[in-house]
Amino acid sequence: MSMEISITRNPQPVDDARLAEILADPGFGVHFTDHMFTVEWTPERGWYDARITPYGPLTLDPATAVLHYAQETFEGMKAYRHDDGSIWSFRPEANAQRMLRSSQRLAFPELPVEDFVQAVDALVEIDQRWVPEGAGEKSLYLRPFMFASEKFLGVRPSQHVTFMVIASPAGSYFKGGIKPISLWLTEDYTRAGRGGMGAAKTGGNYASSLVAQQQAISQGCDQVVFLDAQEGTYVEELGGMNMYFLYADGRIVTPETGTILEGITRASIIELAERLGHPVEERKFAIDEWRDGVRDGSIKEIFACGTAAVVTPVGRLVWEGGEVPGATEGTGELTGRIRQELVDIQFGRAEDSFGWMHRIC
Ligand code: PLP
Ligand code: COI
Repeated sequence: MSMEISITRNPQPVDDARLAEILADPGFGVHFTDHMFTVEWTPERGWYDARITPYGPLTLDPATAVLHYAQETFEGMKAYRHDDGSIWSFRPEANAQRMLRSSQRLAFPELPVEDFVQAVDALVEIDQRWVPEGAGEKSLYLRPFMFASEKFLGVRPSQHVTFMVIASPAGSYFKGGIKPISLWLTEDYTRAGRGGMGAAKTGGNYASSLVAQQQAISQGCDQVVFLDAQEGTYVEELGGMNMYFLYADGRIVTPETGTILEGITRASIIELAERLGHPVEERKFAIDEWRDGVRDGSIKEIFACGTAAVVTPVGRLVWEGGEVPGATEGTGELTGRIRQELVDIQFGRAEDSFGWMHRIC
């Protein structure tokens, strides 16, 4: 069953000249489209009042639960314009399913997969002029999110929930474009513990990463890498990306600890790499394997991936008292190849043999 979505068009959409200026250099997450999608939930009514309205600020009571207890979850995905002008998203059901898993962890009601996809499609369709031409890998970043909108200071699952989708044209996530990022290994902070929220995409995980990310910057690094909370031994992920290690024998290892965010890019790269003849091991990966593997040359390439950042080569790893260089200079051959294959599928320049692309309009 599909949702009934009411539409109120923005009477003052951004004019064409300003839009062209924005799309020429969109940055990341700074400009927002003319509309937004909203649907609300209560136990009595279920999901109700699905609507697209002009983009604008929300009015929230100061006692709104999300502001106090951070009951929220979000997704990150993109809409891509193909050369023929059509607009597509990448595995939207996978994002919808991950939001369902996050929702369960955050004690939220379940938003059906088809409603999630319909909401995203409806917003992209009405704001389609905001989807940049694909040259330079620009896209429209989509941010579905759900939050506890009940006015109540008691600690329990919110009895009023709001799900929204907003959209923002995006260029490269990293200002420097595609070049190896340096990583700071935090031994002071962890991202997620056993039984915690590591596998859910929820704001609290990002809030807890900020001070570690600040430390990374002050150490002259681009991003922070987290270890597991229990033993402080196993590599988990970056603040917003999963990781891969290519060995000289062709194997690829990607960390799996049960407390990482299971990226949709990560899952896709596993399939792409296996098709290219690289077996992928999803397993615990000790930080010493990284240090030793770079030093003895058995690790050939290291890269990180995520929707916002796509595929990014990883350079040096720095920790309190030491560092190892990147496994390669610049972008490794396989890193570049996987990145290109993925981006070519997303932008419709290569055959979508996995059936990952979803046409929006
Ligand atoms: N890990 C974290 C913590 C993230 O925030 C993201 C980004 O969404 C990822 C991994 C990569 O996930 P995906 O490929 O689904 O974007
Ligand atoms: C994404 O890649 O979509 C992310 O969510 C990473 C970051 C922007 C939070």
